Amino acid sequence: QTHHHPDVERILLDEQQIREKVTELGEQIAADYADEPPILVGVLKGAVMVMADLARSIPLDVEMDWMAVSSYGSGTKSSGVVRILKDLSADIDGRRVLIVEDIIDSGLTLKWLLSNLRSRGPKSVEICTLLRKPEAARVEIDVKYVGFDIPNEFVIGYGLDFSEAYRNLPYVGVLKRSVYED
Ligand code: PRP
Ligand code: MN
Ligand code: MG
Repeated sequence: QTHHHPDVERILLDEQQIREKVTELGEQIAADYADEPPILVGVLKGAVMVMADLARSIPLDVEMDWMAVSSYGSGTKSSGVVRILKDLSADIDGRRVLIVEDIIDSGLTLKWLLSNLRSRGPKSVEICTLLRKPEAARVEIDVKYVGFDIPNEFVIGYGLDFSEAYRNLPYVGVLKRSVYED
């Protein structure tokens, strides 16, 4: 715990805590989807780490596909208006879809993504997110699998970035305020 990036205030979830939780989520998903494995839809770029670890902890024949989305407008990502930068390769008509996210913050990205994917005729759409910030929620989202509810702080690592940095940290940490203030 003492060795971490100098921009990290403190470690919120270390590698072992993440590994144990992702293993647990994978076991639940394997049990729930034993009859018909899902197509996992990872949301680029943040979900890359959790997708890679989660997929390997689900002992079923899952497919892995990816979407990249971006908010319209001037950088503020809470508009709720989203555009597709990269769409799925797969046709999800009639399929069971499990969206894989690193974090639900306001919930606006997922609210949009849910309605977009549901319009394509899947048999079901559920969500698995490693992290959720209940205090930041602006819309109600029904999430089937949640790793950790966390405080409303700026977190980075394990896929999560600040200005594209820190995604490769193997843990989830709280970013020092001095890095993003003034
Ligand atoms: C982050 C995060 C989620 C989303 C959550 O992605 O990975 O996808 O924001 O925020 P919300 O609940 O308020 O919509 P970001 O748009 O930063 O793109 P990235 O995954 O490429 O970092
Ligand atoms: Mn993201
Ligand atoms: Mg980001």
